[in-house]
Amino acid sequence: MFGSRLRFGKRDERFAAPAVDPAPVPAPTPAPAPTPAPSRAVGITAPRPRPHAFSEASLRAQIDELLAAKQNARAVGALIDALPQLHAAGFNIKEKLSNLIFLGKRIQDAGGAKYGHAKLRAKIRSVTGFLKGHELPRGGFVELGCGAHDPVALATFFYLNGFAPAYGIDLLAPRVPEFSALSMYDIVANMALFPQRYCWRGTDPAVFRERLDRIDVAQFEGGNFAAGVASVGEVDLLIEDLLDCDLAPASLALLTSFAVLEHVTDLPSVFARCRDLLVPGGIAYHFIDMADHRSYRGDGAFGTFAFLFEHEAPANMNRLRAPDFVAAALDAGFEVLVDRRIKGDLSEADRARLVAPFSAMALDDVTIIKQHLVLRKPL
Ligand SMILES: C[S@@+](CC[C@H](N)C(=O)[O-])C[C@H]1O[C@@H](n2cnc3c(N)ncnc32)[C@H](O)[C@@H]1O
Repeated sequence: MFGSRLRFGKRDERFAAPAVDPAPVPAPTPAPAPTPAPSRAVGITAPRPRPHAFSEASLRAQIDELLAAKQNARAVGALIDALPQLHAAGFNIKEKLSNLIFLGKRIQDAGGAKYGHAKLRAKIRSVTGFLKGHELPRGGFVELGCGAHDPVALATFFYLNGFAPAYGIDLLAPRVPEFSALSMYDIVANMALFPQRYCWRGTDPAVFRERLDRIDVAQFEGGNFAAGVASVGEVDLLIEDLLDCDLAPASLALLTSFAVLEHVTDLPSVFARCRDLLVPGGIAYHFIDMADHRSYRGDGAFGTFAFLFEHEAPANMNRLRAPDFVAAALDAGFEVLVDRRIKGDLSEADRARLVAPFSAMALDDVTIIKQHLVLRKPL
């Protein structure tokens, strides 16, 4: 179980998941200062307007406007920048906390956060969308490189839908287990309130509900991640290397990964291990993010293709391009069911900056920045 297998090794920040919105963070627009009422009493000086008087309504409006424009990172920046004004505002401390909690939650629920049901539902939409029309055998589930935030959220979704056992596996332990627990509390609550969002492919709602009801939500509510995970039926978190773990061969119906394969150094071994873990007919879904991850820092110093202009790869990026992933999958014995590629824009000027081997590649191959692969282990 989670408790016994967990190895709190050294955290590797280099694997930080990409931010959704890399736009620079603007300074918040200060609310207009109130005009002081003229003093009628002779000799009494009218109060000087406070510079940048804080208005909850204007901060809310600013955050909402940024979220409506899908500028989630800028909304985070606006909230952070408003902290000194919020702190100095003349209303009580509980109201200040309410602003922090609920504006933060609004940003999280708009997507792009590393925690929460909005992120989980985006992942579910992606996997289930790409699996449409493809039959799955019975068996277990693994999310490879499940990350250090909501590491068992997707495994829980698949467990509730009949995949057992279901695991998240990652080299990294949860970054803040208490946050992961609180996030699972929100996720389980959302599942309980909107089961139709999470019941997939004809899963019997009664069975789904029965499994859900057995989760000890109070453990998650109390911040006890390990105890909460232990209560989720046949779901577990493995803090291990996929290549060394002792999962049973030919036991998985489905394996997924999000933004993992662009980091692995030994792709043939990872694909071979995925193939060995799947039952015949089992499916692997991989979302691969081939953009230079430094472009997500938000400082504008690196573009999507910047690492293709350098002779050395940045730490933990393998710089493989879309055809490399397909070739490795075929070499490992997979059938490729879906190969969906999304291109970025490479200007003429930047094209001239490409170094070998990228300069010699077909432009179409170099400019793919995202790839969804659905692979099947042949029957
Ligand atoms: C960029 S993060 C993506 C995290 C998560 N999937 C997400 O989208 O938020 C890549 C993750 O893959 C994990 N990883 C890479 N190679 C792995 C391996 N061989 N076994 C287990 N986890 C691995 C890393 O530890 C890291 O947490």
